[in-house]
Amino acid sequence: MGNVIVEMEHISKAFSGVQALDDVRLELHEGEVMALLGENGAGKSTLVKILSGVYTRDAGTVRIFGKEYGNLTPNSAREAGVAIIHQELNMCRDLTVCENMFLGREIKGRIALNNAKMEEEAQHYLDELGVDISPRQVVGTLPVSKQQMIEIAKALSIHAKILIMDEPTSALTSKEIEELFRIVRRLKESGCGIIYISHRLEELEHIADSVTIMRDGKFITTGAYKDFTMDTIIEHMVGREIKERFPRVECELGEKVFEVKNLNAGRLVRDINFSLYKGEIVGFAGLMGAGRTETTRAIFGVDPKSSGEILLEGKPIRINSPLDAIRAGIVLAPEDRKKDGLCTKLTIRQNIALPNLDTIGGKSGVLNRAREDELCERAVKELSIKTPSVERDAATLSGGNQQKVVVGKWLVRDSKVVMFDEPTRGIDVGAKVEIYHLMNELKKNGIAVMFVSSELPEVLGIADRIIVMCDGRITGELDARKTTQNEIMRYATMFENKLGKAGSSTEVNDHG
Ligand SMILES: Nc1ncnc2c1ncn2[C@@H]1O[C@H](COP(=O)(O)OP(=O)(O)OP(=O)(O)O)[C@@H](O)[C@H]1O
Ligand SMILES: [Mg+2]
Repeated sequence: MGNVIVEMEHISKAFSGVQALDDVRLELHEGEVMALLGENGAGKSTLVKILSGVYTRDAGTVRIFGKEYGNLTPNSAREAGVAIIHQELNMCRDLTVCENMFLGREIKGRIALNNAKMEEEAQHYLDELGVDISPRQVVGTLPVSKQQMIEIAKALSIHAKILIMDEPTSALTSKEIEELFRIVRRLKESGCGIIYISHRLEELEHIADSVTIMRDGKFITTGAYKDFTMDTIIEHMVGREIKERFPRVECELGEKVFEVKNLNAGRLVRDINFSLYKGEIVGFAGLMGAGRTETTRAIFGVDPKSSGEILLEGKPIRINSPLDAIRAGIVLAPEDRKKDGLCTKLTIRQNIALPNLDTIGGKSGVLNRAREDELCERAVKELSIKTPSVERDAATLSGGNQQKVVVGKWLVRDSKVVMFDEPTRGIDVGAKVEIYHLMNELKKNGIAVMFVSSELPEVLGIADRIIVMCDGRITGELDARKTTQNEIMRYATMFENKLGKAGSSTEVNDHG
């Protein structure tokens, strides 16, 4: 391993009443990929935000390439060679890809900005990543996975020597992840040090040289990746043993609750037919862009349907808006929590109460505060949402805890059909298990549960039945207890294979 390039010692940081970091240390070497691990709220993002000048520390020292920095700002950190890809993507949705990449460091021509040069450069880095995005596209129109790739392209373009990736893969497909890993390895060979934060522990074996583990704002341990096992990593992260990572409960299959017939909506929802039964969980697998999210959105009434029928308990129902769906007892916990799932400007209490106003508000129209307290308390407790108070703004929660609020607000109401889109994205191992338990609870209570997930181990471990989509169509329906990752991937790349496009790389996929 190369020279030490980053040394952080005795770092502490408090946010009004929350000790986010308490005497933490971290050391990064040239050419090292360090996995920074810990549960939701452990302080990982806070630590790397200090290194990248986003937050100022309360105490401790930071040395980058041997130089001590008293006060890092985003600019001085960037000049020192630090680039960060944030967990919560923060790009300007109304600007183009190119404008976002060069924000604050635009290339100037003689009179005006040199757009052609910026676009050319943006294209160069996007090509290098192998992503099909044009520099002129407006960022807000792109899915999360593409937005993530733009952030990565941006980091490449500033020639960072220290690259921080705060959950870069949480929204990527297996193919994109492989591209990303290829780039990580290349950066590493060029001497770049990389701090890699991820809750997808399966992927570490492909890239991690070392691990640093934090818990509750404290440094726990660090060492070479090869000296740890999955079990020891998890134990250090959660401070206890987790017996079963994918607890599946066996229930008797009940009657049909929900049926979708010949549903069409847009380009990615084509002739979708499936049913959901009491006592089972159905997992939707497929590559990004297969139409899984679009299917849930069309059912929930977010996007218009062009044709098709939806039956609830045998009766056809009309869903033209999310309100229709919620009234009928069908709910959706969406994928893009920042855009669709969470109001970061509201408190946790308000976020949980908002979709449940019908049950909180009595006939008189006055809110039943006790009922609201009860709902919030239940959500916070059942999902172990880490916060000193539900009166805090949702924005102050760690990424994973925000996700728990998105899921939690639906779990507290009585629904008939619950659809989750990537419910455990960005959630730590312990909390994932809590969400699985909740899904199992719903299943045991006769609620039809379906979830979209890009993590195959999770689909295989939690679902009873797996529906695979490719290019807007259902290409396979499998028994989760009998199938394999490879079989799922075969259906997920069905049309690509027919067109001879798919590389062998998509076939074997064990990290997502
Ligand atoms: N801006 C803020 N204001 C108040 N509290 C904050 C703020 N940012 C973080 N915190 C708190 O600091 C603690 C550490 O949060 P941090 O985001 O660093 O966790 P994390 O390890 O990145 O978790 P995750 O895996 O969920 O992303 C949490 O308790 C969080 O609520
Ligand atoms: Mg974080």
